[in-house]
Amino acid sequence: MDTSVFFILLFSLVLSSTAAFESSCPPAKFGHGAFDIRFPFRLKTHQPQNCGDRGFDLFCRNNSTMIHFPSYGDLVVKSISYDTRKLNLLDPKNCVHEVFLNLNLSLTPFDYYHVLKNYTYFNCSASLGPSVTQVPCLSGPQHHVYTVESPVPVPDSCRTIKTVAIPFAYSSYLSDSSFGLGLTWDLPERQDSGSQSKTGWFHLAPKEVHIMV
Ligand SMILES: *[C@@H]1O[C@H](CO)[C@@H](O)[C@H](O)[C@H]1NC(C)=O
Ligand SMILES: *[C@@H]1O[C@H](CO)[C@@H](O)[C@H](O)[C@H]1NC(C)=O
Ligand SMILES: *[C@@H]1O[C@H](CO)[C@@H](O)[C@H](O)[C@H]1NC(C)=O
Ligand SMILES: *[C@@H]1O[C@H](CO)[C@@H](O)[C@H](O)[C@H]1NC(C)=O
Ligand SMILES: *[C@@H]1O[C@H](CO)[C@@H](O)[C@H](O)[C@H]1NC(C)=O
Repeated sequence: MDTSVFFILLFSLVLSSTAAFESSCPPAKFGHGAFDIRFPFRLKTHQPQNCGDRGFDLFCRNNSTMIHFPSYGDLVVKSISYDTRKLNLLDPKNCVHEVFLNLNLSLTPFDYYHVLKNYTYFNCSASLGPSVTQVPCLSGPQHHVYTVESPVPVPDSCRTIKTVAIPFAYSSYLSDSSFGLGLTWDLPERQDSGSQSKTGWFHLAPKEVHIMV
C-alpha cells in the first residue's frame, strides 16, 4: 500500500518535471527544411541555457542552423537524427577536406560517425597525375594538394601537410560539401533522448525505492 502510494507520487513527480521541462524547452525549429532542435542541442538565441548540454549550442545565421567548432569555425547543420545520434553537417566553404584537416573533436562531445582511416595530405609543386586524388578546393595554379591513404612515402615534389584520421567512407565522387561530415555524440551518465530533469528523476528513483522498502 505504502509502496504503491509512493510509486504514484514518484510517477506524478516524474510526469510533472518532464512537463515542466517540455513547456520551458519546447523543441525549436529554424530556417529551411527545419528539423527539431531539442535536448541535448539548444538554439542558444531562442532557448535558455538549461535546455541544452555543454557543447551542443546551435545558432542561426543566413537562414541556416549553425554550430561552431573552435578548431575550424562554423558549419551548417543539415539535419539531426536523435534516434541514431547523427548530426549531419555541411561546410559553408564547400571544402570538406579543409574541415578534415583542421577539425579537432577532442574537446567536444562529438566523434565522426563513420569509420576512420589515416590519410596523409601532401602539398606538391608538380602534379602527381590523375591516379592520385587531388583536392581541388585546397589546390591552386602553383600547388596541388593530394590525400593518400597512410602510410605512404613522400613523393619528390611534395611536402607533407598532415596525417589525419578521416571518415573512411569518404569518396571524392560524392558531394564534396556534405559527405563524411556526419558526427555522433556521447552523453556519459545520461540517457540520450532524456531531458536533464527527467533523467535526474530516473537516477533518483532506485535510491528512493531502496530507502522505502
Ligand atoms: C550568407 O549567405 C551569403 C550568400 O549565400 C554569403 O555570401 C554570406 O557570406 C553569408 N554570410 C555569412 C555570415 O555566412
Ligand atoms: C532568408 O529567407 C528569406 C525567406 O525565404 C529570404 O527572403 C532571404 O533572402 C533569405 N536570406 C538569406 C541571407 O539567405
Ligand atoms: C586536438 O586538441 C587536443 C586538446 O587541445 C590536443 O591535445 C591534440 O593534440 C589536438 N589534436 C590534433 C590532431 O591537433
Ligand atoms: C592513425 O595513426 C595514429 C598514429 O600512428 C594512430 O595512433 C591512430 O590509431 C591511427 N588511426 C586510425 C584510425 O588508424
Ligand atoms: C601549399 O603550398 C602552397 C605554396 O607553398 C601554399 O601557398 C599553400 O597555402 C599550401 N597549401 C596548404 C593546404 O598547405
